[in-house]
Amino acid sequence: MSLPDRSALSRREYVRALVATGGATALSACLELSDSENEDEDQVPAGVDDPSSLPERQHAWDESLPADGDENVRPAEHHVLVALSLDDGVANGDGIDPDARETVEDALRTLERAYERSNDGLLFTVGYTPSYFDRFEEPLPESVHLPEPEPLREGETPAFDEFDALLHLASDRPEVVLEAEEGLFGERESVNGVEPEAELSGVFDREDDRRRTGFVGDGLPAERTDVPGVPETIPEDAPFFMGFRSGFVDSQASEDRVTLESGPFAGGTTQQVSSMEINLEQWFDQENHYQRVSKLFSPEHADEEAVGEVGEALGATNGLTDERIAATEDDARGRGVVGHAQKAARAREDGEPPLLRRDFNTVDGDRPGLHFLSLQREIADFVRVREAMNGTDLDVATANNGILHYLFVDRRGNYLVPPRSLRALPPADPNGDS
Ligand code: HEM
Repeated sequence: MSLPDRSALSRREYVRALVATGGATALSACLELSDSENEDEDQVPAGVDDPSSLPERQHAWDESLPADGDENVRPAEHHVLVALSLDDGVANGDGIDPDARETVEDALRTLERAYERSNDGLLFTVGYTPSYFDRFEEPLPESVHLPEPEPLREGETPAFDEFDALLHLASDRPEVVLEAEEGLFGERESVNGVEPEAELSGVFDREDDRRRTGFVGDGLPAERTDVPGVPETIPEDAPFFMGFRSGFVDSQASEDRVTLESGPFAGGTTQQVSSMEINLEQWFDQENHYQRVSKLFSPEHADEEAVGEVGEALGATNGLTDERIAATEDDARGRGVVGHAQKAARAREDGEPPLLRRDFNTVDGDRPGLHFLSLQREIADFVRVREAMNGTDLDVATANNGILHYLFVDRRGNYLVPPRSLRALPPADPNGDS
């Protein structure tokens, strides 16, 4: 793949374009750039000598991410989702080849030795699809709810993630996500000074056309107006394409809340990824700030000017009181508009949000979009939230039903993210023998 044109882009635009391109040449360009800028210091922090000291939960990222003054977790800036298919011969009638399992574990441990487990180093998870588990005679235990993905809104016809596994790599440093990916596939002699112990090639093939990338952070979306469909009117400081902060601590599930508590996969979680395009031109050019706040948060948020330009007026919470959530139906009928967050919050359980959202913006395919990645104890939690967001029960025009009118989901995938001890090619029934 050809490299982006350095002369036409700012530094930040250029590195994001390199992450999206991927591959050895993009990595070299990225390393060259970071070497030329950090002549002596700013080394990528190293990982641990003994990875067995790391948490059992692959998804335990929050403690290693910075928080703002209100305890909201700030996500890592760069993300890559690497789609993987198991090579022929790795699984046969007797189950998974134990050597392949060891290879995967060794390859992942290399990353843990190489990079600090943080936004400054590398955060990663590996998850497995229902298609992966279908090859085993035994089903997944009852403690795991992992259905095949399906359309979740009338009229949508998404494609489904039917490959075997997905690696989620995240870091504030673009060269780290690229280097980790290349290192895993044997295309680097060392990763952050550590020689890879094993490589995934021979066990997994990369599904290059399913590789997804993205970014999140204050001011980053406004730098993408070079991409068709990204209007100049995006607020300068917005961290997400639709113009507002998201992921307030009080509207996120805790890592405990999304973790499987019992059965052989205890300590794991489920992950779903919905990839969608966003019609930003209509959102920014046909709606004003008041309408955007009404449709994203609630009409009361707009009346009370509770959000600020990009969400800076909110602290640790999106400001959804029980009353505002309960007012959703009345707002639909009486005001003719309901907010996305207000609607989705109807799926809280005993006041607790069930999803831990780790979504990020994308310009994959040269269109603005979002890879909505969420963790939840079971996929049914996600489906319930999505139904609440669909709001088919509400007496309101689709164009005013939150942000539905602007989103086009084109791909859905469901995954089990096992605990670390089972992350390398897990059997469906770890208590059995496969
Ligand atoms: C482009 C697409 C999307 C954008 C721009 C977006 C944006 C937002 C914003 C600004 C909030 C309020 C701030 C916050 O609580 O963090 C919010 C809340 C939320 N969104 Fe989204 N969202 C999108 C898609 C989705 C999808 C696909 C789902 C899942 C079905 C979802 C589920 C939620 C949930 C569960 C909340 C919190 C509700 C609560 O407070 O309990 N969002 N979103």
